[in-house]
Order: sequence, then C-alpha cells, then structure tokens
Amino acid sequence: MPDSNIYTQFHRFVPPEEKGRLLGQKGIVLWMYGLSGSGKSTIAAALEQSLHDEGRFVMILDGDNFRHGLNSDLGFSDEDRHENVRRVAEVAKMLANQGVIVLVSVITPKEALRTLAREIIGDSFLEIFVRASYAACAERDPKGLYAKVAAGKIKQFTGKDSGFEEPEIADLMIDTEVVQPSEAVEKIKKTLASRIHRA
Ligand code: ADX
Repeated sequence: MPDSNIYTQFHRFVPPEEKGRLLGQKGIVLWMYGLSGSGKSTIAAALEQSLHDEGRFVMILDGDNFRHGLNSDLGFSDEDRHENVRRVAEVAKMLANQGVIVLVSVITPKEALRTLAREIIGDSFLEIFVRASYAACAERDPKGLYAKVAAGKIKQFTGKDSGFEEPEIADLMIDTEVVQPSEAVEKIKKTLASRIHRA
C-alpha cells in the first residue's frame, strides 16, 4: 500500500474530459491478449493506422517494447508477469484519462491478470481475446521463439511450461485462424464506435 504521507494531486490539473474534448475523442483502453504470435501486435498496428487515418489519437503499449524499457527488470515468472501487467495497466490508465485511445498488446495469460488490469483501468477497459492455437502460433513463429522452445532453449514459455487460460467470456474474441487482420480491424472499430466518440 502507498505511504500514508503521499497525497495525490488531481484537483489542480486540467480535467480529463477537457483533454478528451481537445482531441475530439474519449479515452479508452483496448486490452488485446493471447499467445505470442496470435496476432495481437499485427492487429494493433493495423488498427492504429486505420484510426490515425481517421484523425484519432492512438498509442500502442506493446509487451515486448515495455520489456525493453520500463519493465526490463522483469522476467516470465508468475510474479513478474503480474508486475508487468500491473505497470502496463497503470500507464494505460493514465493515457486513457488524458483522452488517448490506448491499444495494449500483452499476453496477459491468466484470468486473474485480466481482472487486475480491469480493476486498475475501470470503466474505460475493453478486453479483446486474440485467439490462435499453440500449434498455429508455432507454425507462424514470427520471432523464431517456438523453434527455440522446441529445442529446449526457452523456459517458462506461455502455452508450453507456463499456462495460458482461455477466457470464458471476453468483450470481443478474434479468432485469427479464421479472421484476417483487416476484418479484425473492422470488427473492433464497430465495437469501439460508440465508446470513443466525443461531440
Ligand atoms: S506477459 O505474459 O507478461 O503478459 P508480455 O506480453 O509482456 O507477456 O511479453 C511476451 C513477449 O515476450 C512475447 O511476445 C515474446 O516475444 C517474449 N518472450 C520471451 N520469453 C517469453 C516467455 N518465456 N513466454 C512468453 N513470451 C516470451
């Protein structure tokens, strides 16, 4: 828990709604999760471009990028994944409060981690399960990680010796074994339409 001598400052700052009005949009966090190679980052990149082209202000928070910077002290134990998700969620919340459309692309392998993110972010949280089987991700293997796992060179790999819990329900599910990225973008944009508009 935070020290009791810490006093958060918000009342003197420009209110979040006014930031959103400046951008002509309402901030939101789209939390995309799924196995490595399931297509999260591909969809996030295509969605960012499409929304940007329509004049929306968007930012992608990508797990790999975070792990190169802010989260470079973290590994892949359950505790470290928890801390990874907590930090990404806190940053996403700050940005969404300033009116930014935040696209998060992080494996988030456990239901408890998704709950943690939802609890931190609150009302502006929307979760999207980007689904593909382990076999399909291993077949795609865009970063060569699945080959390394098969050769015993990576431990605690998600879906192999570190578990991935599929959700019982998600706000939206994109099955990338069936749906192309362009279709995924349209599907997500439909869901987003009523949520990001600010007159
Ligand atoms: S999470 O589990 O904590 O949510 P995160 O999305 O930040 O994961 O990082 C996953 C990325 O780290 C993968 O896309 C992959 O490129 C890389 N990675 C390296 N080692 C592992 C591992 N053991 N398990 C999963 N991903 C790994």
